[in-house]
Amino acid sequence: MKDFSSILLSWYAIHKRALPWREVKDPYLIWISEIILQQTRVAQGYDYFLRFVKRFPNVQSLAEASQDEVLKYWEGLGYYSRARNLHEAARSMNGVFPSSYPEVLALKGVGEYTAAAICSFAYQMPYAVVDGNVYRVLARIFGIDTPADTAAGKKCFHDLAQKLLDIRRPDDYNQAIMDFGALQCVPGQPDCKKCPFSRRCVAYKTGRVSQLPVRKDKTSISNRFFSYIYVKQGRCTWLHRREKQDIWRGLYEFPLIETDGPVTLEQLKKNPLWQKYFSSCTPCLLCGPVKHVLSHRVIYAWFYLVTVPRSFPVPEGFSPVAQQNLKEYAFPRLLQKILSQQDLCR
Ligand code: ADE
Repeated sequence: MKDFSSILLSWYAIHKRALPWREVKDPYLIWISEIILQQTRVAQGYDYFLRFVKRFPNVQSLAEASQDEVLKYWEGLGYYSRARNLHEAARSMNGVFPSSYPEVLALKGVGEYTAAAICSFAYQMPYAVVDGNVYRVLARIFGIDTPADTAAGKKCFHDLAQKLLDIRRPDDYNQAIMDFGALQCVPGQPDCKKCPFSRRCVAYKTGRVSQLPVRKDKTSISNRFFSYIYVKQGRCTWLHRREKQDIWRGLYEFPLIETDGPVTLEQLKKNPLWQKYFSSCTPCLLCGPVKHVLSHRVIYAWFYLVTVPRSFPVPEGFSPVAQQNLKEYAFPRLLQKILSQQDLCR
């Protein structure tokens, strides 16, 4: 389509969203915004971005911070490996953000999409961004039914995106296609009557808007069952930092018993972990099941309160933390919600 880029850029001139990372050319700030926006919508990421770059305004300040502090600024955003990778990447830079595409791509946590976004926005380099929004826009307008999640599909969409890129304005072009996917050519039922491509859009003309893009695999969702024990020991509770290769690595939590399915209190008391730590205690159910949805799993959580005497030994791997200091720790959103609902962080 000869005038794809000019139609897109005219649409963008009217609908462009004013966003703080669009007013800057500093690659560090653009990098932070792109990492936040990898799995977070603009409305949610906006305030996080402002807070994060106020505290960590440049590579050096981020490199010098502790991982705990970086995670605290990320608390509630999810996909915490993003924060750990940002921190590690900042430490690898020697104070200067890299200025070539291969070096940007080599940063921990940066894939082709993010490298293209950073290099086009900060340096006006001619790399087209290709993400889920772009797959959808191109699949519909050009009527492509090759699944985007196959090697052939990836190549096809990448080649087309790169061919369509306006190399005189790669920054505006990339922002424009992102906004077009986010605001006009939305998943579900877009308002095609308002779309400047409607006369040319293959999906619209052939009634296939809701069928494109095609996906081969639908990622399966698994359920997990967490019983958390909020320990009351004088003014303290016990916290543990998650270290395993699993969700929420680096964040803090209470003693946790994970089971293969929902369990009653009686069953929980027979669990070896319960027997090991709490055999002499009487738990009280605070709340549950609480359903917490992540991208590929659903967590069902129960929260129990146990009161233990001051003389009770704190198990290895746990630290006693005063309830009033809980605010200083980074928790998964599920636990943040429960702490504030149950009024436990004062
Ligand atoms: N999503 C990913 N990057 C973005 C950006 N720079 N602006 C708006 N939405 C985005």
